[in-house]
Amino acid sequence: MADEQGLTEAQIAVHWREEEYYHPPASFIGQANAADPRIHNQFREELFPECFKAYADLLDWDKYWHTTLDTSNAPFWKWFVGGRLNASYNCVDRHLEKNRNKAAFIWVPEPEDEETVTLTYQELYERVNEFAALLRDFCGVKTGDRITFHLPMTPELPVAMLACARLGVIHSEVFGGFSGNACGDRIVDSGSNILITMDSYYRNGDLLDHKVKADEAVAVAEAEGVNVDKVLVWRRYPGKYSSPTPMVEGRDYFVDEVLKDYRGAKVDPVSLPAEAPLFLMYTSGTTGRPKGCQHSTGGYLSYVTGTAKYYQDIQPEDTYWCLADIGWITGHSYIVYGPLSLGASSVLFEGVPTYPDPGRAWRIAERLGVNIFHTAPTTIRMLRKAGPDEPQKYNYHFKHMTTVGEPIEPEVWRWYHEVVGKGEAIIVDTWWQTETGGFLGSTLPALQPMKPGSCGPSVLGIYGAVYDENGDEVPAGSGKAGNIVIRNPWPGIFQTIWGQPERFVEVYYEKYCKDKNSTDWRDWPYFPGDGAMQAADGYFRILGRVDDVINVAGHRLGTKELESAALTVEDVAEAAAVPVMDEIRGRAVEIYASLKPGFEADDKAAGKVRQAIRTEIGPIATPKHVWLVPDMPKTRSGKIMRRVIASISNFTDVGDITTLANPEIVEEIQKHVQASKVAQGEAPQELSAVELAEIQRFGQEE
Ligand code: WT7
Repeated sequence: MADEQGLTEAQIAVHWREEEYYHPPASFIGQANAADPRIHNQFREELFPECFKAYADLLDWDKYWHTTLDTSNAPFWKWFVGGRLNASYNCVDRHLEKNRNKAAFIWVPEPEDEETVTLTYQELYERVNEFAALLRDFCGVKTGDRITFHLPMTPELPVAMLACARLGVIHSEVFGGFSGNACGDRIVDSGSNILITMDSYYRNGDLLDHKVKADEAVAVAEAEGVNVDKVLVWRRYPGKYSSPTPMVEGRDYFVDEVLKDYRGAKVDPVSLPAEAPLFLMYTSGTTGRPKGCQHSTGGYLSYVTGTAKYYQDIQPEDTYWCLADIGWITGHSYIVYGPLSLGASSVLFEGVPTYPDPGRAWRIAERLGVNIFHTAPTTIRMLRKAGPDEPQKYNYHFKHMTTVGEPIEPEVWRWYHEVVGKGEAIIVDTWWQTETGGFLGSTLPALQPMKPGSCGPSVLGIYGAVYDENGDEVPAGSGKAGNIVIRNPWPGIFQTIWGQPERFVEVYYEKYCKDKNSTDWRDWPYFPGDGAMQAADGYFRILGRVDDVINVAGHRLGTKELESAALTVEDVAEAAAVPVMDEIRGRAVEIYASLKPGFEADDKAAGKVRQAIRTEIGPIATPKHVWLVPDMPKTRSGKIMRRVIASISNFTDVGDITTLANPEIVEEIQKHVQASKVAQGEAPQELSAVELAEIQRFGQEE
């Protein structure tokens, strides 16, 4: 498909500069799980799909499988067919014999004067069993039922997940920061009759009323015809209710009270087929219903275990801290299932890493001896903005760090490497998605050098490529971008969109399917919806969602390349690029930037940003305006809401901003930007419906 200017994706000029390699230190290589270069050989394409036996063999199976990959109902792949296992057994029971007294989770409450709580594998086993007994006998749930959670970052969340897994009940955790409405929609979509929540939790120093959202969620679900029979309410402080929202008689129960009847209860782990669903994780498309990504038991667990072992390099003596929320796929795969399956000690943190001050994260790392650290570019930028020199004040040492969630600007990568990692840690930039269960692109630490801003090549057993709109491969090193695809299935790929199998095929496979009747996996490349370019060394540079391009006079500019250019200016902490309607060029670029503390938000700073974009990308990208703002409108998970600032720039309605972490900033920015525009003679223009839709969904991932 060519666009209006007749350009195809393959012709998009890409303006990234090649970055230098950084090599892993000898200290890391010497101890790494993936130190043997022969590991690549085991995952050669000719050995697909049998190569994934190596991952499946990291698990304990009740019954070994007979068929590695069944493609008969393409693209609904079945992995490890004939095998039976239980995820809760693999994450808990099997570690008891040797490691019952080892910490499974170390929970750090947000208030610094509250003690850290350690949950050993033995205690986790007891708690998971008791809660599984409660779910089975008090709630009456059975294998295949769905339960929705709306839980914050406390140990009760993984306990509830593993209790469901023990019974074969499909859990669906909704990120705690989401609204009651969003939770209600997901209850409806998954058909859950049980909601598990908590009365309150800490965030930024406040004990938030969380129970109130359960009432909203249940009301929304009921209005849409789904009845929630029971709401199980954990208490942040057992025995003491910390929410002003009343309990509803006959519907709401305090878990700590009901659990008394199940003390010491044991529940045999249910032996499930490999392809039994383990959980749903909702993600939103640009339009329509949220998508409940259904992940399997055997394939998913094998994949997250294997990738956690080789890419996170988690080993028995490590203390691993992933700062994501378990309410996202990162937390499911790389706080709970992957690390626990490997018998690791995984840190859970309730709060935000900059509260009460920007040293908090580093104090936790120092205190607990964390040596593997995992977070997202947005958090890295936030930490860099709030306390650029903080890490050196603390005596922690990371061997390994991960970045995940969006492309990381090379400048930010270097701060992560030099300051957070103290130049000692390797970094993996892991590119993947909610849908994919685990990593798709990353360097293999110890064996492949890092390159700032590139995730690296495809991971073991993944054969990625860049295609143009016609499905022709854009060669590596051509300097051209296109759509990244994965040419083969893998065990961690989601099984379907819950209740929407046609949409599953349409969104992820239709674009490059060669023959819809084919049962050969080679005819079904997976389309993740990201733009990328591949350098001559095979490393991918992810440009962001294919929807997030700004087309300036036929030049398609990725928001990320614009933002990376802005970030080369020393003053800038965060930047966001949005399109603004332009009579001549179709679209023009506007940049919003917030500065690091101590830098003056004046014309000089704005001029530097403008110049950086001209130099890094070219005059075509020169922003119409550079707006220096005190902060960006962000979701609770820290994503910049580009659609909100795009609406401000285009004088359109900003839409729903109730889910923002900082809704008050919207009006402030709006007043400032729109008044300056009007003063410069830029009047609001009438937009067509198509243009309006482009602005309203710009940068929209949730
Ligand atoms: C989208 C998926 C994967 C867990 C967290 C996000 C972007 C993710 C990277 C990375 C560049 C990245 C992609 C992807 N993304 N990781 N390392 N480099 N982009 O999961 O919410 O499903 O979002 O996040 O655009 O498609 P998600």
